[in-house]
Amino acid sequence: MYDVYKIRKQFPMLNNKKMQGHDLVYLDNASTTFKPQCVIDATVKYYSDETANHHRGDYDLLYNMDKKVRETRETVAKFFNCDTNEVVFTSGDTMALNLIALSYGFQFLKKGDEILVSEAEHASDALPWFEVSHLTGAVIKFIPLDEDGVLTVDNLKKVITNKTKIISVAQVSNVLGNVCDVKAFAKVAHEYGAVMVVDGAQSAPHMKIDFKDLDIDFLTISGHKMCGPTGIGCLIGKYDLLQQMWPYFVGGGMNVTFNKNIEMIPFEAPEKFEAGTQNLAGILGLKAAIEFLDSIGMDEIHQHDRELCEYALSKLEKCDDIIIYNKNAKNGVITFNKKGVFAQDEATLLNSKGIAVRSGQHCAKMLNDFLGCAATVRMSTYLYTTKEDIDAFVDAVINGGDFLDAYFN
Ligand SMILES: Cc1ncc(COP(=O)(O)O)c(C=O)c1O
Repeated sequence: MYDVYKIRKQFPMLNNKKMQGHDLVYLDNASTTFKPQCVIDATVKYYSDETANHHRGDYDLLYNMDKKVRETRETVAKFFNCDTNEVVFTSGDTMALNLIALSYGFQFLKKGDEILVSEAEHASDALPWFEVSHLTGAVIKFIPLDEDGVLTVDNLKKVITNKTKIISVAQVSNVLGNVCDVKAFAKVAHEYGAVMVVDGAQSAPHMKIDFKDLDIDFLTISGHKMCGPTGIGCLIGKYDLLQQMWPYFVGGGMNVTFNKNIEMIPFEAPEKFEAGTQNLAGILGLKAAIEFLDSIGMDEIHQHDRELCEYALSKLEKCDDIIIYNKNAKNGVITFNKKGVFAQDEATLLNSKGIAVRSGQHCAKMLNDFLGCAATVRMSTYLYTTKEDIDAFVDAVINGGDFLDAYFN
């Protein structure tokens, strides 16, 4: 039985935290999530009790850190069902996508090759491919969205060609919350000899991902969006692809040897992509976060998000002056506007009532034409969000009054 109140007790940020004098209602989880005590403890323990570098230790503290990094890799691999040597630690999702773009895209693409993305992509999944396009002459093409903003296989088939070398899409859109069937996408990609890259920043926190079953080539994630620390994430890649890729981030810890002939021999994957001292506190925190999510169950978390969103939608849909941009995506994200109210003003009004939501373009700046507006308000739930949070949010949106009240009351 899912007990949200018991879960909440584990989050210090949810312990009587106030904003503008009100109990905090945190609905910006697509941006970042709160951390349970076990994640905070794991991070602090690194600094207070376990501080050492890693990379093949000669003394116990360092040996311990090597072991813990190895154990975290195993935990990540088990969680996403991939092999341990397919897990590369990065600073987050953005760095992981840049790493693929640089070490795969820049290395293997050439003039005239095609890269497929969508107009719903977050900057972190669009701009690295723009760079590859500028550097190699490869062409960026867009997979059309359907009328709900969903990426469908039918639409993929309309644009894929024998020149397509990369398809890169988010499994879950950070604005519309739609889920892309990346397993079906990967099947089509492979029929055309293309590589399937999946931005998992918004899916990994909310649903079970089986890397092997999906048969995708690359998956990227951010720890901080799934109860882990900031500054840690992963690139998961099929081992044979990782082995083919040259590491462009170089330095300590990633090479077997280098010499005065200006030669360097990198380690095998994944270590060859991990130049320099890693975010060790973050790595230990990520392990604790994954164990925490696992203890609740990803299917249960997904169900909880869906129920809350359906509940919120059932109330918001009754109001004529609220435009909802993703009515059919019941996935923990509702993107909306109040008629005649600028998105930032609405978010400011909600802030004055202790409610944290996001307004603007949500880093998906190519989506404006599809949405038909310059900015939207986005509320996003997570495993600790309650029905009371939704009630407070809906009440403030519907009955909250004019945004000027936020300034003058
Ligand atoms: C779909 C998507 N991709 C990538 C990112 C970038 O994640 P990070 O800033 O943690 O690297 C985000 C962050 O909001 C996102 O929503």
